[in-house]
Amino acid sequence: MTAAPFLEGERLTLRVLERAAYAESCAAWTSDREVVRHLSRGTWPLTRDEAARDFDAKVGSRADVELGIHDRDGDGFVGVTGLHSLNTVAHSCEFRILIGDRRAWNKGLGTEACQLMTAYAFELLHMNRVWLGVNADNEGAHRSYQKSGFVEEGRLREEVYRNGAYHDVVRMSVLRREYEALRTTWALWPWIERQFPR
Ligand SMILES: CC(C)(COP(=O)(O)OP(=O)(O)OC[C@H]1O[C@@H](n2cnc3c(N)ncnc32)[C@H](O)[C@@H]1OP(=O)(O)O)[C@@H](O)C(=O)NCCC(=O)NCCS
Repeated sequence: MTAAPFLEGERLTLRVLERAAYAESCAAWTSDREVVRHLSRGTWPLTRDEAARDFDAKVGSRADVELGIHDRDGDGFVGVTGLHSLNTVAHSCEFRILIGDRRAWNKGLGTEACQLMTAYAFELLHMNRVWLGVNADNEGAHRSYQKSGFVEEGRLREEVYRNGAYHDVVRMSVLRREYEALRTTWALWPWIERQFPR
């Protein structure tokens, strides 16, 4: 049975992950070279058992929260997104996302998931800074993070080797005060306001 939505957007719902579906889908998605083109995850193929062990480690941890991305268009479970390395002293965490079903790309799901998770981090988890790393040539991801208020804060030169070349990794972040100034300008704001009333 699919879990009830934990967070909701116009185009997607974010739901608690189910172990078997996570293991099967992650193993399939990470074997798709186009999906993992910009990810270190794609370097070694991931078996279902490894994905299940990943799942177990995250579920027991209060430093990670990962949710399933469900497309409202009917394609179902299309990816995962999470907040990781939750630091309750500095009040910071890392945002990550993987939409593994390529048919669900470029429909705005990534941007909605990023904005919902950012809102969750600031509104519920009491974070002050959400950060991420993105390969410099991952233009679609970079664009969707910019649309969610993330700004570049630095560049790790030739940090990764992918697709026959070294690539810089761009570090981006959004601070609580920037989120506060931006959130009402997002098309998703009515959804966020309903779920996090003040
Ligand atoms: C990166 C990812 C999360 C983006 O999600 P998405 O749902 O496809 O993105 P969105 O549709 O919300 O937004 C993408 C934006 O980038 C633009 N874009 C897409 N490809 C682009 C490219 N090659 N160059 C420039 N812009 C591009 C889109 O036009 C869109 O902008 P717009 O809404 O202003 O037109 C998703 O594609 C994914 O999971 N990819 C595989 C894993 C991955 O790379 N994860 C990120 C690791 S940091």
